[in-house]
Amino acid sequence: MRVVDLDRDMSDVIPTGLTPDSEFLFDRMTRVTLDRARPGPGTWVLDVASGVGQDSIALAARGARAVGAEPSGRMTGMAQMFAADKPGPMPEWVRGWSDTLPFSPESFDACICKGAMDHFDTPERAIAEMARVTKPEGRVVLAIANFESLACRVGRALDDFRQDVLGLGPLRERRGYDAPSDHFTRYEPDLIREQAEKSLIIESMEGISMGWGMPGWSKWMARFPRPVADVAVRSMDQLARHWPGLSDVIVLVGRPRRSASNSA
Ligand SMILES: C[S@@+](CC[C@H](N)C(=O)[O-])C[C@H]1O[C@@H](n2cnc3c(N)ncnc32)[C@H](O)[C@@H]1O
Repeated sequence: MRVVDLDRDMSDVIPTGLTPDSEFLFDRMTRVTLDRARPGPGTWVLDVASGVGQDSIALAARGARAVGAEPSGRMTGMAQMFAADKPGPMPEWVRGWSDTLPFSPESFDACICKGAMDHFDTPERAIAEMARVTKPEGRVVLAIANFESLACRVGRALDDFRQDVLGLGPLRERRGYDAPSDHFTRYEPDLIREQAEKSLIIESMEGISMGWGMPGWSKWMARFPRPVADVAVRSMDQLARHWPGLSDVIVLVGRPRRSASNSA
């Protein structure tokens, strides 16, 4: 039986007390995701699993006709509250699941889904739905956390060493390389590519940031003088662009693949 908490909020996932590496990662992931959707005056952009709506609001601020689709009533309520005191055109909020999006085929110029795919119980169905509601020349942009990042690999290797050689427990109670309990999928580059290829013609897969969550990394970034920390996180981001397989987040862009089953 599917049990869903439609009142959940994001207090468990929104980072509190941002360190320079977290701030950089979340800013850059958001910027790249929004940029790749190419929002602009008159374009229709759908934000799937829009959460508290900050990205839909940013899309609207760039002139797009933004629609935030989100199943949680509490999240949608928070999004409406955040939007209330903002100037300018605001998104439309729609309650809806990713695997049955309540829109006609080819309704949108672009569709984004950021930091949410691993929460979906039928992610391939969700990608197929995003492809269905996006125009043939439009773009679907998926941003996912990479659980085979450099940070995850280093964390796992250190824990294996501690356990197998030193006979000690893991460094941290919640091991960053394990998917959290509210995730259905533990994404890595090959898996998101395999799932996306069924409904999308992949145009690019970009790596964002590197080292986030590596043991000690955040602590050092917070201790360094800010300019030094900024250089460090930017340098790691450059490495992520060259080696997206080791990056913290992957942003995939694809065009809808039309087939007999999903054509309009
Ligand atoms: C970590 S939040 C990300 C929200 C937003 N995209 C962001 O970047 O801040 C994950 C969101 O996925 C939503 N969600 C979970 N399962 C879903 C599903 N099957 N279909 C649509 N949304 C879902 C949750 O309600 C939550 O708002």
